[in-house]
Amino acid sequence: MQNIVLVGFMGTGKSAVGKKLSEQLGMKFVEMDDYIEKREGMIINDIFSNKGEPYFRDVETAVAREIGEKESLIISAGGGCVLRKENVEALGENGILICLNATEDEIFSRVKDRMHRPLLHGNNPKQKIRELLQRRKPYYDKIEVQINTTGKTIDQVANEVEKVINKENNK
Ligand code: S3P
Repeated sequence: MQNIVLVGFMGTGKSAVGKKLSEQLGMKFVEMDDYIEKREGMIINDIFSNKGEPYFRDVETAVAREIGEKESLIISAGGGCVLRKENVEALGENGILICLNATEDEIFSRVKDRMHRPLLHGNNPKQKIRELLQRRKPYYDKIEVQINTTGKTIDQVANEVEKVINKENNK
């Protein structure tokens, strides 16, 4: 069975939807960031502040390769994972990639009270979201299957993903 790989910007619902799908489909859920934290013995915030973002990106690539070889997983990829072509290729090797998206305002309201994302620290997270979204848009746009999550519940998005998967499997 192919992996289902959820990609997309921070706060687009990858983790919540991934967990829901894992229950619905009886497939194991893997959060890439958790995998990285276990491997490094450090939380993401500390990896960024102690070792720097380039180090984090290299670990992310190693993990994408490792997880990409597995089967029958629901994978939630970190928001920056699509920035390297090799990550997208590794995760797509044995999986179908689905990009979740949402508006800037919706993303902001979902992430504003959470502190585990180093890229959104600082005094103007909304501006940071806008800049990152603009810069990353071409990378997210490359993913063929897109699901808009704005104003939708986790269940609704999980059901949409399931429909996409069923369609793919019937091709
Ligand atoms: C990042 C997103 C985070 C995490 C790290 C960097 C990004 O994952 O990998 O903080 O570059 O967008 P989530 O999208 O799961 O929050």
